[in-house]
Amino acid sequence: MLPKAQATAGAVRCGKFLDVRTGHLLDNQLILWDKDGVITFIGPADATPFGIVPIDLLDATCLPGLIDVHTHITFDPQNSGYKSLGISVPRETVIGVKNARLLLLAGFTSIRDVGASHYTDVAVRDGVKAGDILGPRMIVSGPPLTITGGHCDKNLLPSEFNFKAEGVADGPWAARQKVREVIKFGADVIKICASGGVMSRIGHPDVPQYTLEEMQAITSEAHRLGRKVAAHAHGTESIKNAIRAGVDSIEHSSLIDEEGIRLAKERRTYLVFDIYNDDYILASGEKNDVLPESLDKERQIGRLQRENFRKALQAGARMAFGTDSGIYPHGDNAKQFGKMVEWGMKPIDAIQSATINAADLLGQPDKVGTVEKGCYADIIAVRGNPLDDVTILEHVSFVLKGGTVYRNDITK
Ligand code: ARG
Repeated sequence: MLPKAQATAGAVRCGKFLDVRTGHLLDNQLILWDKDGVITFIGPADATPFGIVPIDLLDATCLPGLIDVHTHITFDPQNSGYKSLGISVPRETVIGVKNARLLLLAGFTSIRDVGASHYTDVAVRDGVKAGDILGPRMIVSGPPLTITGGHCDKNLLPSEFNFKAEGVADGPWAARQKVREVIKFGADVIKICASGGVMSRIGHPDVPQYTLEEMQAITSEAHRLGRKVAAHAHGTESIKNAIRAGVDSIEHSSLIDEEGIRLAKERRTYLVFDIYNDDYILASGEKNDVLPESLDKERQIGRLQRENFRKALQAGARMAFGTDSGIYPHGDNAKQFGKMVEWGMKPIDAIQSATINAADLLGQPDKVGTVEKGCYADIIAVRGNPLDDVTILEHVSFVLKGGTVYRNDITK
C-alpha cells in the first residue's frame, strides 16, 4: 500500500544520531517535523514536548537519507548489450517505477538520475512527486547529450535502421539547442558524454568525444538556464577538457591524472567514482549479455579507476557518491561504501560524499543531505555504528522521507 503522500507532523527519537557535518555520534536525539515534512527541531530528547509520542528508534543509529548522484533507474542490468534494443520506452518507464521503490527502501531518499531514453526519468520523477508511486526525490537529465556514434548514441544497429539517439548533437550550436530541448521536456540537470565508455560497442573510454568548444557551449547554455552539467568522462584528456569547460561533476573519472586532479580541486569540480561497478560487471556481465567488447574495456579500466580514486582522495579532491546503478541491480547502491573504505576512505568521508557533498552537487545543500531545521525530514536508521562498519548501510532498517515513514523494521 502507498503511504499517504501528504505527511503529518511527527517526531522520532534516536538512540544515536550521526551528525554528518562534524562526524560526531550524539546520544538520544529528538527530531520533530511539521505537516509539510520539514524539520522544525533537533536536539536532546530530554526536551520532548508534552503530548508528543515520537517513533522509538532508541536501539538504532539515525542519519540523513542517503543520496546517489549517478543512477539509471530506468535500466536493469540483465537488459545489457543487444537485449537493450528490445526494451520499449513504456517498458523502460515501468522498470523505473519498480526501481524507484527499491532505492527508497534501501535508504536513498534523493537521487540524481543521469541518462534515460525519451524522458522516462521525467515521468518517474513526476509520478513520485505526485504521490502516485514510491521513490526518492529525483533530479533527472532526460537523454544524455552525445556526439554522433558516441557513447550515449546507441551504436548497436547497422545504418539501414537509421537509428540515432535523441541526445545526439554535434557542434556548439546544435549542442546549445539540445540543452534547450532537454530542459523543455523536463531535465533538471544536463548529462553529457565527454568520452567513450565501457558499455557501448564502439569507442574507448580513453578517447575524447565532445570537443572543448562543444562542452564550453553546453556549460554556458546550461548554467545560463540554471542547470548543472554532469560529464561522463573516463579518459585523461576528456576529464581535463570537461573541467576546463566548467562542468559541475566528472562521472567515472577513471583515468584522471595528477593535472586532472589539480584542475578539479582548483575549479571545485566534484569527482564521482563508481568504484563498485567493476566487481558486478566482471562477475555477471556474461550472464547479462554484456558485449565482449565491453567486458574487455572493463578489464582495462576497472583497477585503474580504483587506484585513481585513491590518488584523488589523497590529494583532497571533492567527491560525491555516485554508483551507476542500473549497471548493477538497484537497491545494492550502498555496497559502494565498503569499496570506498577498502580503497582508503574513512567511513565518515564516504558518508559525507553521500550526504552533504551530494546535496551540494544537487544544488540543495539546505534541503537534503543533513538533518537540520528547515531541511526535509529525510532520515534513515541502521542497527549498529556505520563509523565502525560502513557496510551496515547495506541494511537500512528505517526510512523516512519528507516526514512519511516508508520502512520501519525496528518498531513494527
Ligand atoms: N556506464 C559506464 C560506462 O559504460 C560504466 C562504467 C563501469 N565501469 C567502471 N569501472 N566504473 O562507461
